[in-house]
Amino acid sequence: MSTETGCSEQKFHEIDSYIAALSSLDGALVNVLSQAQSIYGYLPKELQLHIARKLKVSPAQVYGVVSFYSFFTMEPKGKCRISLCMGTACFVLGIDEVLKEFQKELGIASGETTPDGLFSLDALRCVGACSLAPVVLVDDRVFGKVTANQVSGIIDEYKGFLSRGSVEHG
Ligand code: FES
Repeated sequence: MSTETGCSEQKFHEIDSYIAALSSLDGALVNVLSQAQSIYGYLPKELQLHIARKLKVSPAQVYGVVSFYSFFTMEPKGKCRISLCMGTACFVLGIDEVLKEFQKELGIASGETTPDGLFSLDALRCVGACSLAPVVLVDDRVFGKVTANQVSGIIDEYKGFLSRGSVEHG
């Protein structure tokens, strides 16, 4: 097996062990993909095919689930995953200006990762926190009522965490 995708035999072994421990494969696809993404960080094509074989479902079914849920990704992501909610409430309250500022500060477009691998930027559908609109997620941490002026501060905070070797969430 090639290691070009970043998926070593050892990592396949980890997801194989997870699948082997399931009491039933029925309806397990979303959970298996979620577990695989937590191991690999993303779901490359080779891994999707491997999971399809293991769960005895079609590759098209696996791809359909991966592409339907916005929290699944087929591309490697940065150490800090910045996600902006592009739902209606967030859009009306100016998330597009916040997105432009993140793109300018990081030098990447939505869906991309910085060349140093530190930050990735993504757009999400409504994340269910509309009262906090506009909403930005950095990994699992929620920033509410975000303005474009706060963007450089958020990035600097996480650069600080990363330079100390860990990402802490306050
Ligand atoms: S529209 Fe952004 S949280 Fe609902």
